[in-house]
Amino acid sequence: MKALTWQGKRDVRVETVPDPSIEQPTDAIIRVTSTGLCGSDLHLYEVLGPFLEAGDVLGHEPMGIVEAVGSGVDSLAVGDRVVVPFNISCGHCFMCDHGLQTQCETTQNREEGMGASLFGYTKLYGQVAGGQAELLRVPQAHYGPIKVPEGPPDDRFLFLSDVLPTAWQAVQYAQIPDGGSVAVIGLGPIGEMSTRIAQHLGAGTVIGLDLVPERLERSQSHGVRTIDVSAVDHVPAAVRELTDGRGPDAVIDAVGMEAHGAPAGKLAHTIAGLMPDPVARKVMQTAGVDRLSALRLAIEIVRRGGTVSLSGVYGGTADPLNMLQMFDKQLTIRMGQANVRRWVDDILPLLQDGDPLGVEGFATHHVPLSEAPQAYETFQKKEDGAFKVVFKP
Ligand SMILES: NC(=O)c1ccc[n+]([C@@H]2O[C@H](COP(=O)([O-])OP(=O)(O)OC[C@H]3O[C@@H](n4cnc5c(N)ncnc54)[C@H](O)[C@@H]3O)[C@@H](O)[C@H]2O)c1
Ligand SMILES: [Zn+2]
Ligand SMILES: [Zn+2]
Repeated sequence: MKALTWQGKRDVRVETVPDPSIEQPTDAIIRVTSTGLCGSDLHLYEVLGPFLEAGDVLGHEPMGIVEAVGSGVDSLAVGDRVVVPFNISCGHCFMCDHGLQTQCETTQNREEGMGASLFGYTKLYGQVAGGQAELLRVPQAHYGPIKVPEGPPDDRFLFLSDVLPTAWQAVQYAQIPDGGSVAVIGLGPIGEMSTRIAQHLGAGTVIGLDLVPERLERSQSHGVRTIDVSAVDHVPAAVRELTDGRGPDAVIDAVGMEAHGAPAGKLAHTIAGLMPDPVARKVMQTAGVDRLSALRLAIEIVRRGGTVSLSGVYGGTADPLNMLQMFDKQLTIRMGQANVRRWVDDILPLLQDGDPLGVEGFATHHVPLSEAPQAYETFQKKEDGAFKVVFKP
């Protein structure tokens, strides 16, 4: 089959690799019909190289048609149309029972000290072959895949794999009071979908911050008050002006460690990129190569007693945070990968009953998988209006 493989920093290629097969009774194989490119893939493209091996297949936002099922999978049949959540979870352990599928005790990566396995997401998360491919082996298929009806186009359901549950969790974790205010930092797919969900669930004031003009316009077009962080002198003051001088009740950080405007972080990342892998891994994990500017901004702008919800992905342990400010402002902070299965029952009705979240018009680019390398580059540089790219294998 053809698959998109990682080869090195900013080097991904479509190659022919062996077809996957059923390895465990709980596996299924799906023929991928649509598969998303995500801001999280940009971390692999850029800074997480030390945790990848040349040839690793990327991608964690797939949907398709079931082609084979293992003997332990009763819930799926060949021919079913399914969306595959980006995290791999068993559905019957302590963590899954508590709605923490990202911490699944069956697929946890204990040797790495990390949570549940993810598709296409480094040795830290199990080095499971990803979904930017013609075929995908789905472990724990008795629980993970979400059956969706025939009829609507793939884009109606595709974003259940990641964007929708991630944004939904970001909004739930933000604990926005009824009619209250939320600021979303970063208006990529995750941030923009968070603004739509916050509006849908009854937030009063929704503010969006970014620096890419098309992204700001996109959010404005559905009623978000936007701030271009590259154009105002003092971002916190601009946010306070829209929130009675107090700051928003909640802030969602939908940027993560690829934030613009953290030159020291960039230097450290580049240095890590030049080191031999074992050394670089250590540096990435411990030595403060993070770029925390979006998180610092979130802590600064949220109102006293407010909540910061992080969906942006961070790594590293050594970068200092403003504990004085966090403690003094009495903040609540919640974060983590999305527990996809936990939110599916809340979201699915919104995809079947019309399209209130506007998912069908969400993607800007549909491209053949063969053009994925170019699409990665365009998406990283945010050129050509690339907002959400969907590959068609
Ligand atoms: N928690 C999860 O389960 C989960 C799932 C998917 C994605 N993510 C993470 O969410 C984040 C966003 O994903 P995405 O697909 O929307 O990515 P993206 O790269 O398309 O979007 C990030 C946006 O942030 C903006 N930005 C960068 N620096 C900024 C700054 N200093 N101030 C304001 N805006 C800034 C960029 O212009 C861009 O529009 C990534 O870190 C991704 O890894 C997390
Ligand atoms: Zn994703
Ligand atoms: Zn589990």
